[in-house]
Amino acid sequence: MMLTADTIWISLPMPVFHLGPDDLILNLNPAAEQFLNASFRSLADVPLFDRLAIDAPMEEALARVRRDESPLFINNVDVGSGNRPPVVCNVQVAPVVGKRDHLLLLMEERHIAARLGRSHSVKSAARSAIGMAEMLAHEIKNPLAGIAGAAQLLSMNLSGEDRELTDLIVAETRRVTKLLEQVEQFGNLRPPVRKVVNVHDLLDRARRSASVGFAAKMHVVELYDPSLPPTWVDGDQMLQVFLNLLKNASEAAGPEGGMVTIRTFYEPSLRLRRSDGTGATLPLQVEIVDDGPGLPPEIAREVFEPFVSGRENGTGLGLALVSKIVSEHDGWIAVDSVPGRTAFRISLPVAPKDHGDRKGN
Ligand SMILES: Nc1ncnc2c1ncn2[C@@H]1O[C@H](COP(=O)(O)OP(=O)(O)OP(=O)(O)O)[C@@H](O)[C@H]1O
Ligand SMILES: [Mg+2]
Repeated sequence: MMLTADTIWISLPMPVFHLGPDDLILNLNPAAEQFLNASFRSLADVPLFDRLAIDAPMEEALARVRRDESPLFINNVDVGSGNRPPVVCNVQVAPVVGKRDHLLLLMEERHIAARLGRSHSVKSAARSAIGMAEMLAHEIKNPLAGIAGAAQLLSMNLSGEDRELTDLIVAETRRVTKLLEQVEQFGNLRPPVRKVVNVHDLLDRARRSASVGFAAKMHVVELYDPSLPPTWVDGDQMLQVFLNLLKNASEAAGPEGGMVTIRTFYEPSLRLRRSDGTGATLPLQVEIVDDGPGLPPEIAREVFEPFVSGRENGTGLGLALVSKIVSEHDGWIAVDSVPGRTAFRISLPVAPKDHGDRKGN
């Protein structure tokens, strides 16, 4: 069965306008009527651009289609019809075969997902959502402290089983507070302030503060390449990265402790292709290797995602923060894990020569 032109015209889900030589509306399909929220009768012979505002140089575009007699595509333009907010459309203009200076104008509304990439309002909404999370975290922490305090007061007059319940309240509020603190930390991450930094100094600082705390039971081995050139990072943020990795290694080891090897070396072959097409070399390698049980296989592929944790009390934000910091430095992080050997490897850029010691430190 062959469809008639009328059937096609009526069935097309996108608005289509048939324009005469002076851009008057000669015909429009039902989708177009719906788009303008008006009937054919009220629109016939009305100049299209009296009713439709397209945020693009349409006069030029239509003139070109008429002159060249070939179609034209204009993508991602705001189209307003006066009775609702503009929508983002791909607009196509085609000459009508055999009718000089007549045009067909088609509009395809871009669906939400395609619009996400360009719409400013959506982007700023996403940005403010992060602000919301921080604000919420901040606001919840105060009443939580009150709840924990009250539970502790109550517990003084209790005994036995009842006390277990207040202890539970205190422990759980602590856990939530810790989570909120990490959410705040995550949201508060500012763009890195880069300086010329000796990566071994950072590793020493991380190691020292780890060994008086969570890594007290760990045996730490340093395999440093002393000839490594300085890197180009925000020292405080990179310190957080190393601390998080040392902490995870210590937590994986369990109460008896284990061994962590911190290795640095130079490997010039690694290049990262950025989204804008430029490449960066990341020759400085830092590996943090432990001899623990390895990543739990069921989460191994998503450990860098927020809230993915294999530990009972883990919030799953540690590696998400690590990967966010590393990627803000245009660096690279990878993990290689089997039972008995888990290696996180961070690849970093070398400090640019012209920043020498003048700007460093
Ligand atoms: N060195 C490691 N050895 C074994 N498993 C690891 C190691 N590092 C990370 N993991 C696994 O990856 C999970 C995610 O780590 P991540 O640091 O993101 O969160 P977390 O440690 O659970 O919580 P948080 O760091 O927020 O306290 C961990 O829960 C653990 O299961
Ligand atoms: Mg962690």
